[in-house]
Amino acid sequence: MNSSQSSPSAGSSSTQLAGRRLLAVEEEELRHIVLDIHDGLVQNVFAALSQLALCRTQLAHHSAAQAELGEHLERVAGLLEASLAELRVFVGAFRPPDFVHRDLLAVLEGLVAQHEALTGSAVELSADQPLPPVSLPNKIALYRILQEALANVDRHAGVKMARVRLWADESRIFLEVLDDGQGFQPPPLSGPSATEREEHIGLRGMRERAALAGGQLCIESAPGHGTRVNVEVPRDV
Ligand SMILES: Nc1ncnc2c1ncn2[C@@H]1O[C@H](COP(=O)(O)OP(=O)(O)O)[C@@H](O)[C@H]1O
Ligand SMILES: [Mg+2]
Repeated sequence: MNSSQSSPSAGSSSTQLAGRRLLAVEEEELRHIVLDIHDGLVQNVFAALSQLALCRTQLAHHSAAQAELGEHLERVAGLLEASLAELRVFVGAFRPPDFVHRDLLAVLEGLVAQHEALTGSAVELSADQPLPPVSLPNKIALYRILQEALANVDRHAGVKMARVRLWADESRIFLEVLDDGQGFQPPPLSGPSATEREEHIGLRGMRERAALAGGQLCIESAPGHGTRVNVEVPRDV
């Protein structure tokens, strides 16, 4: 399997650089969301409005156009239902859980349940119990990384099943996301040739979040061999 790894950030200037990069990545994510909304929701609503315009024309010209009208109205209903379903996905994905009052395992369990409900996939989550406390920023980092890793399994792996493991040692908390899907050639995540490419926005976001948390991210994958994402962040001391 090929792997690509990101190193922990050392010193405050690299942390600041990572912070600036993270903000930039989030801006790009927002741009993607706007594009997705345009391609999905706006097109559906536009098509629904065209169907309504057709209904109006038919009503004006043919008084006995009941059957045809029924067909157009059914399409309108279908398009609006599809738009609502997409809206629910966006709203669900971007509404943050109660990070302050819920512990790491609870927020990750909530994310897994939400992912299963939205995608129809199965996620097997196993965790060492009890897990040690983790700082709020690192809890958020692990949540967002798991969210992107599961989204990638659903979008790209071609399988409906993922496995997630959580465990800890004396100094770190570990998260692993595994799928037996089609795999890919992961781009380098650190070093001079680290990916900065537009089409790797999700992988870059995971890398930056792990680095900001003082941890690291490693992706192992190969075409035909599934994908393993490993993250480690420091535990609260
Ligand atoms: N679990 C996975 N299985 C197969 N391919 C993956 C997986 N995760 C990522 N990839 C590949 O890496 C690419 C980059 O992923 P990412 O940066 O998250 O961008 P996006 O999800 O927006 O395409 C994907 O387009 C896909 O080709
Ligand atoms: Mg992605």
